[in-house]
Amino acid sequence: MSQPEKLYEGKAKIIYPTDDPNIFLAHYKDDATAFNAQKRGQIQGKGEINCRVSAVLFQDLEAKGIPTHYLDCPASNQMRIRAVEIVPLEVVVRNIAAGSLCRQTGLPEGQILAQPLVEFYLKNDELGDPLLTRDRILLLEIVTSEQLDRLKALALEIDGHLQKFFAAGGITLVDFKLEFGFDREGQLRLADEISPDTCRLWDSAETDPEAKVMDKDRFRRDLGQIETAYQQVLQRVETVMTQNQMTQLPSTNDR
Ligand code: TMP
Ligand code: ASP
Repeated sequence: MSQPEKLYEGKAKIIYPTDDPNIFLAHYKDDATAFNAQKRGQIQGKGEINCRVSAVLFQDLEAKGIPTHYLDCPASNQMRIRAVEIVPLEVVVRNIAAGSLCRQTGLPEGQILAQPLVEFYLKNDELGDPLLTRDRILLLEIVTSEQLDRLKALALEIDGHLQKFFAAGGITLVDFKLEFGFDREGQLRLADEISPDTCRLWDSAETDPEAKVMDKDRFRRDLGQIETAYQQVLQRVETVMTQNQMTQLPSTNDR
């Protein structure tokens, strides 16, 4: 069967329609870009790894009451998702200072933030995804004030769950980027992906500032061993998922 015409192609995924107008198919690519696509490359096996990592994390978050666009994975690099209209905001949550926060504020990399910081960036490649203020978001009428509060509350709740999940796998969640969308019923759902492409993940047991990096910063900063780091993240995330499933099983005494 020939592939249907794509609905949308982004830097890391292609979105296809399905026979059901409420369901899309996301195809995760091995292509990697950084610095607004000024740097381009391929990370072998990335599409499959990011799809599998995202699937585990979306399922974990759903189980904790966070609505997501995730449905299932018909193939290891493909995810069936609910059709949502993406809110053109990149919602970044930071627990530890790194990346653009350090560049723009002078905070030293690695400084633990007294409380998580939630930031909103405009999802617009032509403008270079600028950092927004609350008033600019309302001025642009991207979302209402109430929706913005809901986005921030959801982002913080997700941060709490993800920090715990990664910590169980010996990974420190430094910061990450989320996207949200409205489904056909008008419900706000977590969308896009949660993967080593969209998170900063540091090996908790490692102190060396380069060796600890398990995410796309290995590609951005030419640190090498990118595939190995991504595979490690997948392996640890799947181990935590299996451990969580085991502890949720009723013990033999209860059966
Ligand atoms: P930043 O420090 O470069 O602003 O990045 C913050 C987090 O957001 C980091 O985990 C990487 C992620 N991110 C994306 O997922 N996509 C992007 O386009 C950018 C700039 C960052
Ligand atoms: N994904 C973004 C890009 O290509 C940036 C990044 O992740 O650093 O442009």
